[in-house]
Amino acid sequence: METAAQTYQILQNKLSGLIPDFEIKQKAELVAEINQLKREKNAIILGHNYMEPALYHGVADYTGDSLELCHRAKEAESDIVVFCGVEFMAETAKILNPDRTVLIPSQKAGCSLASSITANDVRKLKKMYPGAPVVTYINSNADVKAETDICCTSGNAAKVVASLDADRVIFIPDEYLARNVARETGKNIIVPNRNLETNEFTSGQQLEQAFIGWPGKCEVHDRFTVDDIADVRAQHPNVVVLAHPECPPEVAAAADFSGSTSAMIKYVKDVDAEHLLLLTECSMADNIIAETRQENVLRLCSHRCPHMAQITLEDTKQALLQTRYEIQVDAEIAAKAKASIDRMMEIH
Ligand code: 13P
Ligand code: SF4
Repeated sequence: METAAQTYQILQNKLSGLIPDFEIKQKAELVAEINQLKREKNAIILGHNYMEPALYHGVADYTGDSLELCHRAKEAESDIVVFCGVEFMAETAKILNPDRTVLIPSQKAGCSLASSITANDVRKLKKMYPGAPVVTYINSNADVKAETDICCTSGNAAKVVASLDADRVIFIPDEYLARNVARETGKNIIVPNRNLETNEFTSGQQLEQAFIGWPGKCEVHDRFTVDDIADVRAQHPNVVVLAHPECPPEVAAAADFSGSTSAMIKYVKDVDAEHLLLLTECSMADNIIAETRQENVLRLCSHRCPHMAQITLEDTKQALLQTRYEIQVDAEIAAKAKASIDRMMEIH
């Protein structure tokens, strides 16, 4: 068990240069308290790669991308799992391991992709395109997953599509991920209007297409442009550019690598590059710099995820102290959603 002074030392080794020292001191106190509470309450903390550096390096027992955290959540044996990520992730953890108390430190940690589509929209899509299996990005609510044949994450989307014996698939709700996977797998794509009552596509057109998308977007990755890449390339001609597949297709195409957040971290650690540009939530680059002390990692910090930023050390401490905010999922919806997540997790 570390004392507050030891915790400060550990955090200082990782975070000096990234965070002012007075802030490291403040955060070290909170980190020590949270780690003590975890022991007292038999709790673990799962932290998404976008968590702020002191939380990511100080209190998370496991970190990772959505797929890795699904596996961690399913295996968890502690009484309490505190999910430091956004709501759809915590909900997925509860669905995968319903006997644990799953907590999320803030009730304001949504996701623009998850809120872009409803279960009713999925039912209408299925009526419009009968027989086409529904592939749903994990960034979605439980009732949407319940209408789904199989889920996918940014780490396995192409594999999930390849596992289906189908000429046409409904791939929702991230239009850009769908376009990026369609490009990777050589498929066509159409995206119906969001208002399905007035959808203008005819069945003749539908039959020729392989991917039926949905106009959902990540409000963070939607903001990266090819001009951003050109600007950085002009300054650093040898820069290696990494873009998350939630970025617009022209941005993903202009990058040197595109993959899940953990795939990006692995790539940064493995590649020998003069400079690296990460087109994703800015905190992740901070976490990599804290771990590897690589000074060649560039990021665009004007584009931040306001939902991930809701998860703070203060609220994580309160989550443990007050056993709040507990994730609940309706049993019938959870059972159907679990089937679509389980099918995804069986794919290697
Ligand atoms: P990853 O599964 O790649 O971590 O992505 C989750 C996410 O929400 C990225 O914006
Ligand atoms: Fe959702 Fe985008 Fe935030 Fe990821 S970065 S949680 S996709 S809004």
